[in-house]
This record gives sequence, structure tokens and C-alpha cells, in this order.
Amino acid sequence: MKVNLNAKYKKTVEQLIKQIPFEPDICIILGSGLCDFADKVITEKSIETSSLTDYPKSTVQGHQGYLHFSKYNNKKLLIVQGRIHFYEGFSLSQCVLPVHIASKLNCKYILLTNAAGAVNQNFKPGDLMLASSFNGINIKKEITELIGLTSIDQKIEFLNFPSSFMSKIIVKAAQEEKIELREGVYWYTKGPNYETPAEIRMIRKFGGDAVGMSTVHEAIYASCAGLKVGSISCITNYAAGLSPQKLSHSDVIKTAEKATHNFERLVKKTIDLIALP
Ligand code: HPA
Repeated sequence: MKVNLNAKYKKTVEQLIKQIPFEPDICIILGSGLCDFADKVITEKSIETSSLTDYPKSTVQGHQGYLHFSKYNNKKLLIVQGRIHFYEGFSLSQCVLPVHIASKLNCKYILLTNAAGAVNQNFKPGDLMLASSFNGINIKKEITELIGLTSIDQKIEFLNFPSSFMSKIIVKAAQEEKIELREGVYWYTKGPNYETPAEIRMIRKFGGDAVGMSTVHEAIYASCAGLKVGSISCITNYAAGLSPQKLSHSDVIKTAEKATHNFERLVKKTIDLIALP
């Protein structure tokens, strides 16, 4: 059954609208270990998500819980440091609250970033990857909670998903910044634990290049709400079974932090290349 997010989060959005310094153009959701980006732009106002009614409290290290209203080169940004994950036990309709907020504040573009494991054996930790497509096969049913049963229009919209406009801009940004950008399929897993080597072998056989536990439902909700979606993964580790090293969230964060310089350049250039009316 579809959940009416307008009704569910009416109060949250009203509280927020009273405080915001401006309506943002572009929303950026920061993935694990990538939250430093918020310090690299000029922020006019930071709102603690814990001050907002019904905003779930993230339990994951590295997701602090702020909505920053920031500017970069005249573009108005909503930067989300406080992603809500399905594996934390929240419902999908709670997980997409940051995207719902972006849509209610009239953002037209959204850049979803994440840390992900390398399934493609040509990728290595520290690489940045454009998600050229998503695989969310194992949350298809739960997604009904967000979008209900798809209409013909929504089915068509899925064909341009993530937005080819945003993907082209991200590729151009990487070229201009001379950053080697990988491209591939981001495969969603529900977590909460990392995958087994057998699961990773299956994902590779079925065309996954990177694996992670976020983003896909956010992208679907954003796309249905009419936002143009782009997605960048920071490859933080070899997926299970591809290296003898044991996976840990703190290693994921450490590697993402090492990639922040290129990540910052790529995201800033992407923002620059989005031409606003
Ligand atoms: N698997 C799932 N999620 C992840 C991984 C991984 O290997 N790395 C970072 N997020």
C-alpha cells in the first residue's frame, strides 16, 4: 500500500519551511565517509535533523544528522548529512524523507552519493563510479510503499533513470577535472551485514559492478517526484570474497575519506555544469 508522504511528513516540512534561508536548486545526499563535502562549500544555515519532528535518527557512524543550506558558485544547495538506511530497521517511506524534503523545497536535481564495494574486478578502492543503472530487484515489493502501483507514465519515466542528463554532466565533469571515472551498475543489497562471497559471485554474474545498501529507493522516489537523479559511488573496498581482507564499516569510512579530494572536485564541477534557468 502506498504511504502518503505529504500527510506523513506535513509537520516536518512545515517546520523546515519556516527556517530555511532559501529554496535550494540541487540536493546532494552524502554517503558514508563523504560527509566532509559539507565543509567545502559556504553554508548559510545548518539544521539538526533531531530538531525536526519525525526525522528518524540515523544510527550509523558517519551520518551526523544535518540539513545544510549552502551555496557553491551561485547554486543553492541542500546538503544532507543524515541518510536513513533500510537496514537500520526504518521503513522505506522513512528512508526517503530527505528526498521528500528536497522535492517539497522544490529542488530540481539530486545527486545521490554512496560508499560501495567493488564487484567488478577492474575496480579498486578509491575509484569513483557513475551509477549508469541500478539493480533494486530485492526491494521491488517494498517500493510499492513509495510509489503504489506504477502508472504507464511512471513506467516510461523509469526508462530515463537515473537521468541521462545528469549522467552526461557527471561524465563531462570528470573529463574536465581529469578524474578517471568508472561506470557501472549499482546493486542494492538490504544489509544489514555485508554480503557473502557467494552472493557477490551471483551479483557479478547478473551484471552488478558495485554493491551497496542505499540510494536505489531514494533514486526511484526522486525520479517519480520529478527530480533529475544522478548518482556517484565511491568504491571503498573489494566486495566479499574478492580480497582476503575482512570488511568493516570503519575501513569503508577511511577509504572514502581518502577519496574525498577527487570526490569534492567531481561534485563541485558537476554542480557547476548544471545550467539553471
Ligand atoms: N557491500 C555493501 N555495502 C557496502 C560495501 C559492500 O561491500 N562497501 C560499502 N558499502
